[in-house]
Amino acid sequence: MCGIVGYWNNQKNALPILIDSLKKLEYRGYDSFGFVTISDSKLYVERQIGKVSSVKCRDLPGIVGIGHTRWATHGKVTETNTHPHRDCTNTIAVVHNGIIENFQEIKSSLIEKGHRFLSETDTEILAHLIEEDLKFGMSLKNSVMKTGSLIKGRNAFVVLHALTKEIIAFRNGSPLIIGIKKDSNEIFLASDIQAFLDKTKEVMYLDDEELVLIKENPEFYDAKNGEKIEKRLISIAGEVEESQKGDYSHFMLKEIMDQKETIISAINQDDLEIMHVAKEINEAKGIFFIGCGTAARVCHFAEYVFSHIANKHINFITASEFENYKHFLLPETLVIAISQSGETADVLEALEVAKQKGSKIISVVNVSNSSMTKISDYSFLINAGVEKAVASTKATTSQMAITTLLAYACAGKLREGDRVLVDLAGKVNDMLNPRYSEHIKKLAQIIHKKENILIIGRGLNYPISLESAIKIMEVSYIHAQGFAGGELKHGPIALVEEGTPVIVLVGNENTGEVINNAIEVKSRGAYVIGIASKNNQAFDYWIKTPNTDEITTPIANLIPIQLLSFYLGILRGHDVDYPRSLAKSVTVK
Ligand code: M6R
Repeated sequence: MCGIVGYWNNQKNALPILIDSLKKLEYRGYDSFGFVTISDSKLYVERQIGKVSSVKCRDLPGIVGIGHTRWATHGKVTETNTHPHRDCTNTIAVVHNGIIENFQEIKSSLIEKGHRFLSETDTEILAHLIEEDLKFGMSLKNSVMKTGSLIKGRNAFVVLHALTKEIIAFRNGSPLIIGIKKDSNEIFLASDIQAFLDKTKEVMYLDDEELVLIKENPEFYDAKNGEKIEKRLISIAGEVEESQKGDYSHFMLKEIMDQKETIISAINQDDLEIMHVAKEINEAKGIFFIGCGTAARVCHFAEYVFSHIANKHINFITASEFENYKHFLLPETLVIAISQSGETADVLEALEVAKQKGSKIISVVNVSNSSMTKISDYSFLINAGVEKAVASTKATTSQMAITTLLAYACAGKLREGDRVLVDLAGKVNDMLNPRYSEHIKKLAQIIHKKENILIIGRGLNYPISLESAIKIMEVSYIHAQGFAGGELKHGPIALVEEGTPVIVLVGNENTGEVINNAIEVKSRGAYVIGIASKNNQAFDYWIKTPNTDEITTPIANLIPIQLLSFYLGILRGHDVDYPRSLAKSVTVK
């Protein structure tokens, strides 16, 4: 959460480049944004509430600067709490990503020393800590090192000094990448490579407990002992991936439609590698699938798929709860992380626990070179292409496809898995046509004023009912809840009133029980929406899904839910790509 950018050069005005880079990091948080540049040894600051892409910025002079897009953690969404934050002398500016867990005690001791705080943020202590050190003649580099060692939690921060015109960045737990454009003597810095990939493909990754000092050339240091370190310049291969909306009104809609191709791209993996990982899974003593939010629902789905196809028990754990299971971890245990971003803090923390226990780690991610790929023994890329909308769609179905393929590989049926998934991909391609979207839009028009939607599914469709609820809630802000069909009579059915929309996710086998559930809620007045390959008289509204293999039906069932969520959000007047209070990448706990 929060996006950081920096720019150093010796001729061009920094602000347009900083704005352009920050726009590409908006997915990391969009409560407010700010920039600081240097001119005539003075700091020039601009801070505003809202998204950098929708607000006009005041001009700032100077060729060196840093910027930040905020997802508020400490302190409300106000201009005063917006980064950059400065010290009392107005010579040091700081932007930060993460949470400083011990900020209160540090802040109290700085206040005792006479420092004046303007914001409620944890970040502001960084500027004052550095100010305090510089007052006693410490170098900026040594002060950043000291400050980095003092703060607890997963953090990355960048400091700009008005007099020395240096940028110093420190990383411990949150990503920072440096881009170099040698011919024009430009240096870029960001929390995500996407920020500057259109300007240079020559990059250097900062690792944990390292810092980089940017002035003419970037110099890298080990933050533990201050020793200089050499970094490899990596050339990012291939074309810069486009993440434009094209003819679509929203990224979410575009990404839903991208699923015409992404399921095929996801399963386009090296057979030998799939078989190698399948062997690791088959030989492991204990397998944990971990993830957060939608990715956790994919892990839950994987639990069912491995049970059905490979006759194998895997444990699915929400990453933030993983700590409670750490006593089961052995060196022979396998932990498989599912994550679009590869940067989710709760997942990374769980993986660190697994690493300490000597367990093997595999990650299934969409963003290459992410923190999760670095910590993993083996990493799969899901090849879904950039996913920008906060609500995950194409990454989800790609993760589901790849976990399904792995389950088939574990059962020694890789070819069958390929066949079943290729068949699904073709049917999804046919399904995503304008007529289908219109039919779902019509349903959204019928139910968009409701304040409660229930979703039921059984077996493989149960995790899909939970994911459906996440999707509907995050985009439309309608309360939605998913249930196992069999659980209805144990409580949730009490929520059904005249006209309550109940979405029934129907599989392609053993459909009887879930249809009975549909009839039960209908007799209590529910407006029953059937997502199924065949119509049924219990349905008030039928959304047809293709007749696919039983294992892949849940993936197909999720697609109309994604479209429904999108249209509900639109009809309720929301910014569906950037729902309130959320961020694409959750890098704080
Ligand atoms: O990047 P990750 O897949 O690790 O993100 C995990 C969740 O934060 C994410 O899936 C979240 O639940 C989405 N907003 C769901 O659409």
